[in-house]
Amino acid sequence: MKTYISPWPADMAAPSFPRRLSILGATGSIGLSALKVVSEHPDLFTIVALGAGRNVQRLAELAATWRPSHLGIADQPAADELAGLLPAGYAPEIHVGEQGSCELASLDEADVILSSIVGAAGFPPTLAAARAGKIIALANKESLVLGGHIIRRVCRRSGAVVLPVDSEHNAIFQSLAGHDAEDVRHLVLTASGGPFRTRDKAFLQQVTPDQALNHPNWSMGAKISIDSATLMNKGLEVIEACHLYGLPPQAVKVVVHPQSIVHSLVEYVDGSLIGHLGTPNMMIPIAHCLCYPKRVSLPLKTLSLAEAGSLTFEEPKQDLFPCLRLAFEAFAASKSHPIVLNAANEVAVALFLQEKIPFLRIPELIEQALEAHEAVDVEEPEHILEIDARCRRNLLERLAGGSNVRC
Ligand SMILES: NC(=O)c1ccc[n+]([C@@H]2O[C@H](COP(=O)([O-])OP(=O)(O)OC[C@H]3O[C@@H](n4cnc5c(N)ncnc54)[C@H](OP(=O)(O)O)[C@@H]3O)[C@@H](O)[C@H]2O)c1
Repeated sequence: MKTYISPWPADMAAPSFPRRLSILGATGSIGLSALKVVSEHPDLFTIVALGAGRNVQRLAELAATWRPSHLGIADQPAADELAGLLPAGYAPEIHVGEQGSCELASLDEADVILSSIVGAAGFPPTLAAARAGKIIALANKESLVLGGHIIRRVCRRSGAVVLPVDSEHNAIFQSLAGHDAEDVRHLVLTASGGPFRTRDKAFLQQVTPDQALNHPNWSMGAKISIDSATLMNKGLEVIEACHLYGLPPQAVKVVVHPQSIVHSLVEYVDGSLIGHLGTPNMMIPIAHCLCYPKRVSLPLKTLSLAEAGSLTFEEPKQDLFPCLRLAFEAFAASKSHPIVLNAANEVAVALFLQEKIPFLRIPELIEQALEAHEAVDVEEPEHILEIDARCRRNLLERLAGGSNVRC
């Protein structure tokens, strides 16, 4: 039998139900959507761990509802506060900081890890889950952008599996089923185009964080919403797709599809395009990964194509939204350039959200950081963390000093 590039190995048995679930980033948009899936099918899951960053109150509420044996939180003061908010008689083990997130990602009693921390902070726990041989339902695309080659290498050794939660990559996962790798010509990632798709440069010079956060089709966390507005989200997704499916960037195309109904497609050598369509709601790809290969019902209105009406497609405006080009270039340049791309983007997005830089400064800062970067070896996880930290530090120092950015 020929191989196909499904993330799920053909000879691997699926774990039985109920599946034991550890959710990292439980207080965020993806984490909460996952818990809605679990609420619909409580017989299919046991929540063994919930992890969060700073939102102690929300984590305490979730913990009181789900009663996992393990909780994770950013630091010791937050852990102390959390312990004080838990119901009497319930005393889970509380794991702290990055080390704590890595522990939640590799618990013996967990089958499936939902990696849904935002940003580069998601890399160490995703790697820990890979080392522990887990089924990783991956929302944290930054993990693959930073070190997809390392995560793939570790998964090969440990038997861990990465299932894509990102709607585009999940659509590709579904569209690849039953096909051979050699028959795939391109992956076609769809992009909504974000809230500024139809705007011009003069408008973009003035946009506020509130306008940029107002995504037309998806309800998401702040960072990914800004990434969608700059098209960096699609750039990160191109890199994510290359790592997930083992393809070069020339095999990945991007098309803007403002209705977000077609979630992505696979183009085969005979010219067939096979895609995945559905209501834009993350519960669908999350449920697909958590229950794979079983499909479960969800409390969503099924997509009516007649109601959806027109589905339109157009080329991305790369001159106005250069982040997509920057991501392709970074991936082609070296293994360290995507780390710089991501770090500079995270710093720039945070500064924009704090209203310290204008919207159009985001791609400028990233481009300057990439131009100044000289490729270095990235064979070990420590290299990634060093490059990431150095880039952030240099960028902030240089911005504070008013000079150009070097990473
Ligand atoms: N939202 C979507 O529709 C969507 C779709 C596809 C992919 N993704 C990807 O999924 C990831 C999460 O996105 P999101 O929209 O859910 O983001 P979000 O709403 O901002 O949630 C982020 C989560 O990460 C936690 N977190 C942040 N820093 C942490 C740290 N250092 N240690 C532990 N936890 C930390 C946050 O905890 P606190 O809130 O407690 O601080 C929160 O639970 C991102 O990589 C994004 O690109 C999201």
